Amino acid sequence: MQQMTSAATSLNQVNPGIKAILPHLVGLTVLDIGGGKYDTNKIYAAGLGVKLFIYDKYNRSDDENRQALACDPDTIVCNNVLNVIDDGQAMRNLMALCASYQVPCYFTMYEGNKSGISGPSKKGCWQRNWKVADYVPILKKYFSHVVCKGHIIHCQ
Ligand SMILES: C[S@@+](CC[C@H](N)C(=O)[O-])C[C@H]1O[C@@H](n2cnc3c(N)ncnc32)[C@H](O)[C@@H]1O
Repeated sequence: MQQMTSAATSLNQVNPGIKAILPHLVGLTVLDIGGGKYDTNKIYAAGLGVKLFIYDKYNRSDDENRQALACDPDTIVCNNVLNVIDDGQAMRNLMALCASYQVPCYFTMYEGNKSGISGPSKKGCWQRNWKVADYVPILKKYFSHVVCKGHIIHCQ
């Protein structure tokens, strides 16, 4: 079970993954899994013509989460979330939730110190400290196509 919510890891800025991915999704409905506390990404998306729904277990209301999960997305994005989940099963459950929509999913992760040794960061937030490529074998259990390009993992 996930012990740390990592709710405080949410930053009030446009996520670099959002900046890289959303310009390719103009006109589409996108579900942002673990989308954080702030609406910065949503406002950026609206400016591009992307309808972004945010699901965040610890930073959004039950109502907003319910609405987001029911949004019938064309695409899913999940940025800097898998790396803050302190429990392996909870992380896999989130991958399974993304895969259950059967739409293209884009994952980005903060790599921390890249040591592979997980624990609290200097700021006191839990970090998995895996390199992006370390997530690929697990994602392959949930998606039939998994391609890692730079810092973005594209799954389908
Ligand atoms: C580092 S923040 C990233 C926020 C946003 N994706 C961004 O990049 O701006 C991680 C977020 O994941 C959320 N989170 C942690 N565990 C989660 C879970 N099991 N399901 C959904 N969201 C979760 C936290 O509440 C937090 O807002």
